Amino acid sequence: MILGFPDSRRQAMAVADVLSARYGEVGVHRFPDGESKLTLPEIKDEHIVVFRSLSNPNDKLVELLLVSRTLRNQGVRRLSLVAPYLCYMRQDFAFRPGEIVSQKVIGKFLAELFEDVVTVDPHLHRISRLEEAVPAKNPIALSAAPLFARYLEDRPDKPLLIGPDTESEQWVSAIADACGFPFAVAFKQRLGDRAVSIKTPDVHLRGQSVVLIDDVVSTGTTMIDAVAKLRVQGVKRIDVLVTHPLFVEDAVAKLRRSGVSEIGSSDSIPHATNVVYLAPILAETLRNALDYNRNPR
Ligand code: R5P
Repeated sequence: MILGFPDSRRQAMAVADVLSARYGEVGVHRFPDGESKLTLPEIKDEHIVVFRSLSNPNDKLVELLLVSRTLRNQGVRRLSLVAPYLCYMRQDFAFRPGEIVSQKVIGKFLAELFEDVVTVDPHLHRISRLEEAVPAKNPIALSAAPLFARYLEDRPDKPLLIGPDTESEQWVSAIADACGFPFAVAFKQRLGDRAVSIKTPDVHLRGQSVVLIDDVVSTGTTMIDAVAKLRVQGVKRIDVLVTHPLFVEDAVAKLRRSGVSEIGSSDSIPHATNVVYLAPILAETLRNALDYNRNPR
């Protein structure tokens, strides 16, 4: 069974569909004080795949704890988590004494609940492998790069792909390699949650079409500053592509006002900007790497 939640229903059902697997859903009720009351469907399988993308994560993490412990008590032997967006991966270093390295704590928490943790383009910056952050038996990091490359490859203007900071090079270069477009990476200094300063890369920009690419857009501050700096350099057209569209508050409206032509994202988080769909690569991983398909509908 693929066990989803209302907020990830469409993506979880798409994966179940590709696998011809049963889909079941956890009922979620929030009490007025913020606690969750969860209701499980009938469980008959020994291997359950829990599907939930972990944007706005705090309630969801408690709910994963409640679900996984209850499934174990009901005799489920193998629990896999598919979290296309994995939360808390950016807090990977203590910059000041006392700061908690959340990546390590949350990674271990998930590893204790699930044998398998499957995600897409996790924000691995100061470490290179998912198992360093999520020490589960079977941590799997997939890449959306081939899907983004396929989405871009027919563009006749062969745009220059630009990552807004050094961390983004891994994603931008993978997409550029796969579709044969040029790429460059800008330099970002973060000054606060909503303040960054970006220095454009030292490449020819005047008259170019550019696609800005990053793993996460949250407040949009990074992209908006990159757009402003690129426009000063005489760039002709700027589009934005992002794997994980968190887009908090009015980030999309602000991006549009900054002069971005098209905004596209993967459906790691359901959003109006989704143009790339992850179900095929998630289902293939469940089938091949996790040997999942013993319970066809
Ligand atoms: C961090 O390094 C990420 O890759 C993104 O650049 C960052 O999370 C974007 O945040 P915001 O949209 O708030 O600038």
